[in-house]
Amino acid sequence: MPIDNCPKCGGTGWISSDQDGLAIAERCSCVEEARAENLTEFAQIPPNFVEASFENFRLPIDNPTAQRGLADVMLAVSAYARLYPKNPKPGLLLAGPPGTGKTHLAVAVLRLLISRGHEGMFFDYQNLLEKIRSSYNETLGASNREAYQSALETEILLLDDLGAHRVTDWVEDMVTAIVTHRYNQRKPLIATTNLADPEFGGSMVEKSGMSGGRAYKTTIEERIGERARSRLFEMCKVIRMPNIEDYRIRRSK
Ligand SMILES: Nc1ncnc2c1ncn2[C@@H]1O[C@H](COP(=O)(O)OP(=O)(O)OP(=O)(O)O)[C@@H](O)[C@H]1O
Ligand SMILES: [Mg+2]
Ligand SMILES: [Zn+2]
Repeated sequence: MPIDNCPKCGGTGWISSDQDGLAIAERCSCVEEARAENLTEFAQIPPNFVEASFENFRLPIDNPTAQRGLADVMLAVSAYARLYPKNPKPGLLLAGPPGTGKTHLAVAVLRLLISRGHEGMFFDYQNLLEKIRSSYNETLGASNREAYQSALETEILLLDDLGAHRVTDWVEDMVTAIVTHRYNQRKPLIATTNLADPEFGGSMVEKSGMSGGRAYKTTIEERIGERARSRLFEMCKVIRMPNIEDYRIRRSK
């Protein structure tokens, strides 16, 4: 759809010119712009992250190790975006501690792909499950059922904070259904999580074990079940965030 009052094409979507006596018509750039705008609106990126991009992702200059670690992550994430949709694995999983920029980078990828004309949607994991749950309630029904359908069907699904929910069989079934559907269709899933997993390496013991006892980190498998976890790892390029200071704290200094 062209833009109604476009100064270049007058809203027709076409610009005509004369070339060697031949009248030719070219697609006006506003057609693409309008599509990108629609896609952005459709993606439902939360206000906090609508501006998140690689350009405004900053590396900690005061800590060389952290800087290198984060620079590597940024390179790997942007390589995924550059390759898309020809990635060996269709999805991307960003894992690591809170405030390290997982959601920021996930949205940066999504926005970049949207600007290239792809369609995608942002879902907060907890919120999505809540919507699915209430779609079983007749009075709240239809619009929430759409959320589930979109999570299954949209080209690129960004599932933020995967596993941030207490475990019930019901949750496990829902997540397995979404992940399995996307896995079977080879549809990309971009997910973030701060859960632990043996595959990420690192200790499974919580640093601040309460009352001297050993506390174990909650794992992806505990939260979403073995089947969903196994598909998730098979379909996603896994990127571990380095151990860096929480950006929310860094920013407030
Ligand atoms: N390197 C960075 N440069 C600029 N802004 C950053 C950077 N890292 C994080 N931020 C910003 O800090 C805030 C927290 O980052 P973000 O939400 O991406 O972290 P997260 O790893 O997803 O944390 P959580 O696990 O708690 O969800 C966001 O507003 C984000 O835009
Ligand atoms: Mg996050
Ligand atoms: Zn135009």
